[in-house]
Amino acid sequence: MNPSRRPLIAGNWKMYKGGRTGVELAQGVVEISRTLGSGVDLVIAPPFTVLAAIASTIEDSSVKLAAQNFYPKNEGAFTGEISPLMLKDCGCEWVIVGHSERRQYFGESDSFVGEKVASALASDLIPIVCVGETLDQRQAHETLRVVQQQLHAFLDILARSPRAVAIAYEPVWAIGTGKVAGPGEAEEVHAAIRTWLAEKSDALAVRTRILYGGSVKPDNAATLFACPNVDGALVGGACLEAASFGAIAKAANH
Ligand code: PGA
Repeated sequence: MNPSRRPLIAGNWKMYKGGRTGVELAQGVVEISRTLGSGVDLVIAPPFTVLAAIASTIEDSSVKLAAQNFYPKNEGAFTGEISPLMLKDCGCEWVIVGHSERRQYFGESDSFVGEKVASALASDLIPIVCVGETLDQRQAHETLRVVQQQLHAFLDILARSPRAVAIAYEPVWAIGTGKVAGPGEAEEVHAAIRTWLAEKSDALAVRTRILYGGSVKPDNAATLFACPNVDGALVGGACLEAASFGAIAKAANH
């Protein structure tokens, strides 16, 4: 197996478990990681308020820490924002960028997502960059056009960096709805993303993990992971219990 495409299972905790229950969940994920061996990488993305505490919880394990968001400036008068350097400082190695909830509720544009990808890489944070179409766009057969347009906002930036990043294909209609993309639907988009990466550079296509996200659960994970271009998952709801996050990770550990 190509080691840079070893399966990656990332848990996006969203606005849940920002205190003591977050530390307990992280302890559960550490226990699961000890049963998994080295066939799968685990990343958890808790809320900002608990990042520093969880950094010490996972310290002696293979579990890595991600933030869910940041502001792409190193410091300054940006009330309420968190810089990439601050994330590095409290133990993050990864950061989620361009999640559809950020795009939808906080008006993040493709160009802002590009700016954030560049800023993350400049600060040595590895981005998990999210792309995906809405239900209306899918029904209008615009899925590939929309995803390609989102990708083009950061493709050159990825190509210029030697870092192995992750892209998460998350159809918006599948997030938190229980409606998962079928393996055929997921693989079509993942394969297209791989082709667009390869058009930039073969090395980029080889080193980039393409995760699927949107209602991934223990009972549908294995089918998705059997797709040749699905290199893991970005998990929301099912990552809030260590047991279901662990079951998804086990499904990827083949
Ligand atoms: P979900 O969320 O697994 O709850 O659908 C996925 C995500 O938003 O990353």
